[in-house]
Amino acid sequence: MKRREFLATTAAASGAASAEKPVREKPLVSTYWGTQYYDAGEREQISDVLESRNPFRYYGHGAEPPSKAATFEREFAARMGTRYALAVATGTGAMDTAMAALEVGPGDEVILPAWTFVSCYNTIVLSGALPVFAEVDESFNIDPAGIEHRITPQTKAIMVVHLRGVAADMDPIMAIARKHGIKVFEDAAQSMGSTYKGRAVGSIGDIGMFSLQITKPIAAGEGGVVATNDPLLYERAVRYHDVGGLRPYHEKIVGKGKLEGFPGTNLRINELTAGVALSQLRKLDRILGDVRARSRRVYEGIRDLEGIRFRLRPDVDGDPGAIVFIRFDTPAQCDDFVKRMKAEGVPATRPGSAALLPTVPFIEKKVPPRPNWPTFQTARGKAMVYGPEICRRSASILKRFAGPSIDPKYSDSDIADIVAAIRKVYQAARRA
Ligand SMILES: Cc1ncc(COP(=O)(O)O)c(C=O)c1O
Repeated sequence: MKRREFLATTAAASGAASAEKPVREKPLVSTYWGTQYYDAGEREQISDVLESRNPFRYYGHGAEPPSKAATFEREFAARMGTRYALAVATGTGAMDTAMAALEVGPGDEVILPAWTFVSCYNTIVLSGALPVFAEVDESFNIDPAGIEHRITPQTKAIMVVHLRGVAADMDPIMAIARKHGIKVFEDAAQSMGSTYKGRAVGSIGDIGMFSLQITKPIAAGEGGVVATNDPLLYERAVRYHDVGGLRPYHEKIVGKGKLEGFPGTNLRINELTAGVALSQLRKLDRILGDVRARSRRVYEGIRDLEGIRFRLRPDVDGDPGAIVFIRFDTPAQCDDFVKRMKAEGVPATRPGSAALLPTVPFIEKKVPPRPNWPTFQTARGKAMVYGPEICRRSASILKRFAGPSIDPKYSDSDIADIVAAIRKVYQAARRA
């Protein structure tokens, strides 16, 4: 549908809708992206593994080692533009692996956003380091302006999290990190395939991670990826994820290795998961394209509404637009909008899939992650403060945004309904 026709349709829909009659009788439902694209491709990958009886990635039946994980890693690195990609068992495991690769440990501090998924906190404390929270801005990602004054001589890394497809503003973050000689770790779990100024998120900092869990752009049930351009970080990641060793497959990539063995764990991916991940990776651009096309039409359909403002997107072109977040001046207006949208059968999502971590009870109370965890003190003996007082701005931002989730399979009329519902209720909500 051309833009003008589309706007005409949505305008007609909104005009035709009476105050009493909701835009939709049956509520619109969005669901997980990647699994909606499962087809013969994923089936074939799984059948290959079963028929060859080779579920383990490094060896099995036959002269040649199995190839699903290896192919996935090669294609993933090429797609993201990194020298190396390592597939692992889970996204959280990819974070632990990246922490180990960066040698984050006791005595170190890691700066992370106050609003993010709990694994970000967990991986830091489990490494033995101290999490230092920074506020988020209206992109819902870490505010670059809130980083520098939190840097101390103990700061080892900045953890940047790209939430729901929107890239954090990487240029100022990289400049601060380089100025202070600090590493940047990118959590791109929710944003595989998004870009920032033409570069894939997760490929810009020193090391990045991705997730293959069901709520992510592509899904293999569980799974994660660590990506980097640095051969030493890659070698440490490989060793950590595979009980400290470096197998011939990885030696072919990185040479004999520069490190002594060290204690690692087992976070290896298996061939069944890797096969599904490979098939999904080949569909990533299609999935993101389907979301992007629908999301753009929602933005276009409501952009002219007087006063409308959106979630901050540092690179609009690189963001598929998973959720069209609309900004309100007060939480009451936002609550009213959510209520009205629900009544129209077009639910508006609030910023979810993450938590305001300093206010999570076990974090606020500083519950030790290990029985022998000594204190929540910086290496200089200063007690860390957690709790709502350190993330007031983030809390205020997050209460003022809501918007429709975009499903990659929404029909033209679903999109028209979203536009019609927002056009119908937006100004009334702003008066709340
Ligand atoms: C921002 C973020 N980081 C990390 C993870 C961890 O990924 P996984 O669920 O694969 O362990 C998630 C998953 O929900 C996430 O949303």
